Amino acid sequence: MIVLGLETSCDETAAAVVDETRHVRAQRLLSQHDAHRPYGGVVPEIAARAHLDHLDRLVAETLEAAGVALADLDGVAATGGPGLIGGVIVGVMTAKALALATGVPFVAVNHLEAHALTARLTDAVAFPYLLLLVSGGHCQLLEVRGVGAYRRLGTTIDDAAGECFDKTAKMMGLGHPGGPALERAAVGGDPARFALPRPLRGRPGCDFSFSGLKTATRQVLDGLPPGPLSDRDLADLAAGVQGAVADVLVDRTGRAMTRLAADAAAGAAPTLVVAGGVAANRTLRAALGGLCADRGWRLVAPPPALCTDNAAMVAWAGLERLRLGLTDPLEFKPRPRWPL
Ligand code: KG4
Ligand code: ZN
Repeated sequence: MIVLGLETSCDETAAAVVDETRHVRAQRLLSQHDAHRPYGGVVPEIAARAHLDHLDRLVAETLEAAGVALADLDGVAATGGPGLIGGVIVGVMTAKALALATGVPFVAVNHLEAHALTARLTDAVAFPYLLLLVSGGHCQLLEVRGVGAYRRLGTTIDDAAGECFDKTAKMMGLGHPGGPALERAAVGGDPARFALPRPLRGRPGCDFSFSGLKTATRQVLDGLPPGPLSDRDLADLAAGVQGAVADVLVDRTGRAMTRLAADAAAGAAPTLVVAGGVAANRTLRAALGGLCADRGWRLVAPPPALCTDNAAMVAWAGLERLRLGLTDPLEFKPRPRWPL
């Protein structure tokens, strides 16, 4: 089985071909970061136009690099939401046209499900597993029981973790996107120099909150000398924010593990999967590694390039749905909001 997947829900235009042996035959990704950087964030209209300008070419290049003709495909998948609607429409319409022209099924993939299933592409992880999904728009703990079978254990009550990185990075004068810039700035910084809060740490439940951390970062900045930050202040504050986000994520994930421990004890070694753009962060990966070592869990963290938005994960989720017979009609309407 061979599936073409398209991703256009935010600021990456991407196409990929994967097969059922979990082989990514080819993928192409064009990041629009440079186009959005002057605005300090993603501009939906610029994103949609850029997807339109580049997607056809990326699809052609991907098929060629994979050595696959349209006639060889078993399905065409595209992110059907959630995301910026103009971009989602471009991907969905392109996938529908290709499916119609070749007579193969169309699969509308939930972007969150694509992140959720990535570890099955990279590491063949078996169901069930605990998933920490941390991206620019979402921050959730989910029990993944199967394709389309998710139980939500916790979510953010305000910002997503990636949003917290993006907003605090912007305050510090770092470029867009903020997460990777903040991670680079934090190298060599002292995470303990500034006292930053760990919202909801130790509290009941598995929900997250990051707005207090954002406010505290603003207050630290207001207390520093006016003008550009010194290298030292920047590194220490970036390291402080990164450490605080990682502590919060580890605390809440630890609670979800405790909640699932009774069920997990019956099965094989329980598995924690981390996914979404923030899962590319090395401090977070190390902290989750420590948590899993303490609890006797297995940690699966896909390679960073498959944690941030990409089309291989969409093609793979499409393939998983396709082999269960879960296809979509050409009447499918793109969904700006689409909870798992
Ligand atoms: O999954 P993703 O590429 O797009 C969404 O679905 O949102 O996630 C993007 C988010 C952004 O907030 C970005 O700043 C964050 O992931 N991110 C990171 C890192 N790489 C991307 N955050 C922290 N450290 C990173 N290395
Ligand atoms: Zn994403």
